Amino acid sequence: MLLPGDGIGPEVVAEAEQVIGAIARRFGHTFDVRSCDMGGIAIDKYGTPLPDETLAACRDSQAILLGAVGGPKWDDPTAKTRPEAGLLGLRQELGLFANLRPIHPHPDLLSASPLKSEIVSGVDILFVRELTGGIYFGDSGRREHPSGEEAFNVMCYSTHEVERVVRVAGESARTRRGRVTSVDKANVLEVSRLWRQVAERVIRDEFPDVEYEVVLVDAMAMHLIARPRDFDVVVTGNMFGDILTDAASMLPGSLGLLPSASLGDSGPGLYEPIHGSAPDIAGQGLANPLATILATAMLLRHSLALEQEAVHVEQAVQTVLQAGHRTADIAAGAPHLSTTEMGRLVVEQIES
Ligand code: NAD
Ligand code: IPM
Ligand code: MN
Repeated sequence: MLLPGDGIGPEVVAEAEQVIGAIARRFGHTFDVRSCDMGGIAIDKYGTPLPDETLAACRDSQAILLGAVGGPKWDDPTAKTRPEAGLLGLRQELGLFANLRPIHPHPDLLSASPLKSEIVSGVDILFVRELTGGIYFGDSGRREHPSGEEAFNVMCYSTHEVERVVRVAGESARTRRGRVTSVDKANVLEVSRLWRQVAERVIRDEFPDVEYEVVLVDAMAMHLIARPRDFDVVVTGNMFGDILTDAASMLPGSLGLLPSASLGDSGPGLYEPIHGSAPDIAGQGLANPLATILATAMLLRHSLALEQEAVHVEQAVQTVLQAGHRTADIAAGAPHLSTTEMGRLVVEQIES
């Protein structure tokens, strides 16, 4: 199921759709690919960001690929609903509690990072961001206050919510370098103190072979930039993971390079670039489609069990970058390709 969404969403999903077609031809598969409205476009058409038909079609699918939702058109703080609420609803309805965000700078792109090459080279981090709990989903509201109003969002995590996402981190670490870093704010927040207790117990009891450390989130923001090579799997709550992974996108050099997979215990997975709808560049052919194409590779791997096909997509992206092809976000001012030109090169590489 494709959910192109808003802004650059439809532009990058169109390229991913070409890639799915190329994989089908190359490997002799038939994919039943459909598309639905979600986000701002669905608000415009149906008055709600996640129409029942879209949710039902997503539930019926094997995997979902989302572009991005949101934009200034729907940003009025007094609006009844927002595009982002549709995405949060989809994640929650499908129970997609584990958001995998790999950070793996491409060796040929080290100069695209604003950080020094010697810091970025060799970085290989997997963020496991909790995605259906925490402050994003706690009680919220507004109430009267002598100064006018006050507003609140409650951050809440249960033992079960922490256990299951830490297990995903532990299991991922076993297939990688065997290290888990849990990030919290236990020096201040009660919810982090529970998180830390549960995370420690799960790793100690169930993953004694995994090396484990805890880092406070403010310090992590610094370590991520100063010594990113030292981290393997990083597990953290919903909001900390959101913020740290946008910061981490500067290791590879652009938000336009980072894919993600959102997984639950069963049912379809949701695959998306970690970036948003980029209203500043929408409609200009400037968006980098590689994050969405790499999310498509994750979709082939995690939801369709097509590992060989996933690797084929990833290698095609590597080859295109190795050959020096760049979209504007990673071109450092040099001549660059449009969104569709980049997509076409990846497709040609897949078919070659
Ligand atoms: P953004 O991620 O859309 O953009 C941040 C910056 O990165 C912009 O300068 C943009 O041009 C650049 N950028 C992002 N993706 C790029 C790509 N593929 N190629 C080249 N450059 C790229 O964040 P924002 O501007 O803060 O948010 C815009 C809207 O997107 C907001 O409404 C926000 O809520 C929404 N959003 C949606 C998602 C999602 O749907 N998953 C994720 C993040 C933000
Ligand atoms: C992301 C986005 C979303 C989030 C928004 C659009 C709801 O920033 O996927 O990282 O905060 O989770
Ligand atoms: Mn985000």
